[in-house]
Order: sequence, then structure tokens, then C-alpha cells
Amino acid sequence: MAAAPSTAAPIKLPGGVSPLRAGQGHSFLWRRLHSLTGIVPVGLFLIEHFFSNAYATKGPGAYTKQVAFLSSFPFVVTLELLGIWLPILYHSLYGFYIWYRGDSNIRDYPWAGNWMYAAQRWTGAIAFFYMGWHTWHLRFSGVHILTYPAAAFGKVQLEFHSPAAVAFYAVGIFCASWHFAYGLWLFAAKWGITQGPVSRRRWGYVCILIALVFMAVGAVTMHSFMTTPQQPVEPAASELDSFTMR
Ligand code: HEM
Repeated sequence: MAAAPSTAAPIKLPGGVSPLRAGQGHSFLWRRLHSLTGIVPVGLFLIEHFFSNAYATKGPGAYTKQVAFLSSFPFVVTLELLGIWLPILYHSLYGFYIWYRGDSNIRDYPWAGNWMYAAQRWTGAIAFFYMGWHTWHLRFSGVHILTYPAAAFGKVQLEFHSPAAVAFYAVGIFCASWHFAYGLWLFAAKWGITQGPVSRRRWGYVCILIALVFMAVGAVTMHSFMTTPQQPVEPAASELDSFTMR
């Protein structure tokens, strides 16, 4: 006997990300650009940023020298704009768009890959708000550290004024570390660098190690700022002189 036709309204599925077809649309290009910007320049900048901040472990003098070195680049603001801010903005905004168009399903299918999929989105979002806060406080308000590098160490120290602020920094650093390390794993799979389950598993172990190294470097750097006596935040007289001489 033939089944009676269903009277239920057809289920409407969300759009998802349109399939990639050669010669159709631009989403392939935007996705590839999103993937690439995660490594170059945003990932490279993250490595440089952790490395430069780790100079804090060598004391305020070494840290000031490193900040002065970075600030001495010609066209520094243009370099920041083209090499850091715009790529991060693109990667972040397109990342939110990918998140919005995709569908997480860890409730129905709680597999490791699906957890990692969700974690990549949440760590990205937390890193986004963390970076906004961090850049506003240290780059765009208070003493201008590009002009007065000797004020940088003390200015960072003031960021850790309460346990909540320390926790906020720790969470931001851990999320950025995880996001970047798992991003390296995704990148290798997407660009055909790791092609089979064995190489993906092995590369996965390396990425876990990379995440742990970043987290450890971040934690040791924070510890150095927090255990050094508070450094002056006002521009030093010598810096004022050298500034007026320029
Ligand atoms: C610390 C700054 C960041 C770095 C270094 C970074 C790096 C990366 C890397 C290397 C990837 C892998 C690229 C690929 O899928 O092939 C990635 C993926 C991703 N990022 Fe970021 N990212 C950062 C911030 C953000 C922010 C703020 C968001 C906003 C939500 C975001 C959202 C995403 C998403 C959704 C993916 C996965 C894309 C996919 O599954 O296809 N990222 N990121």
C-alpha cells in the first residue's frame, strides 16, 4: 500500500557555506585568503609578539631596548596598519562570517573533530575581544610607548592590577595560543601539506606541543612583569630630550 503523502511543512535548513565550484563565485578565494592570513602575516606577528614580550624575562632594560628597536622602524604606523591591523581585521571578520554560516553539532556528534571545530571559533572570538582591549589599553591610550619606549614595561605592569585582570590576560593568551596552534593543523590539512591520517596525527602532536610552548612562554612573561617592582610609567627626561631633538 502506498504511504499517504506527508502534510508536515518542509524543513528549512540554514544556508551553510556554498559549495566550492571552479569558476563560480569568490568564496574559494576569500576562504583561502582567510586561511593564509591566519599564518601570514597574523601568525608570524603572533610569534614575533610573544618573542619580543619575552624580553621582559631579561628585565626592564632589555625590554625597553626591544620596544625601542621595534618603534625605530621607518613607516612604523603604515607597517602596523598593512601588516597587522588590516589582516587581523579581515581574518577576524571573515572568521565570524564563517562561524555564522556554519553549524556546530557537538550536541549530536560529540567527536573530537567537532569539539575542535567549536573550540577554534570560541578561542577566535575570545582572542578578538582580548586583542581589542589589549591594543586599546597599551597602544592607543595612556603614555605613547612608540614615542617613550622606557614607559612600556611599567605600563604593562599596570595592566595586572587585579586578579581578574591577570585572569583575563591569561585566558586571552591561552586562547590565542590554542587558536594559532590548531590553526597550523587546519592549514596543513587544507593546503595539502598533510595528506593522510598518519601525517595528520603526527602533525597534531607537534601542534599540541606548539600550543603548550606558546602558553608557557606567555605565562613566564606575565610572571616576569608581575614579580618585578613597579617601573615608572612617566616618560624619562632623557627620552623627552631625544624626542624634541628629532
Ligand atoms: C591571534 C590572532 C589569530 C591568529 C594568529 C589566527 C590564526 C588562524 C589560523 C592559522 C587558522 C587556520 C587557517 C585555516 O583554516 O586554514 C585560523 C582559523 C580560523 N580562525 Fe583565526 N586567528 C586569529 C584570530 C581569529 C579571530 C579573532 C577570529 C574570529 C572569530 C578567528 C576565526 C577563525 C576561524 C573561524 C577559523 C577556522 C576556519 C575554518 O574552519 O575554515 N581567528 N586562524
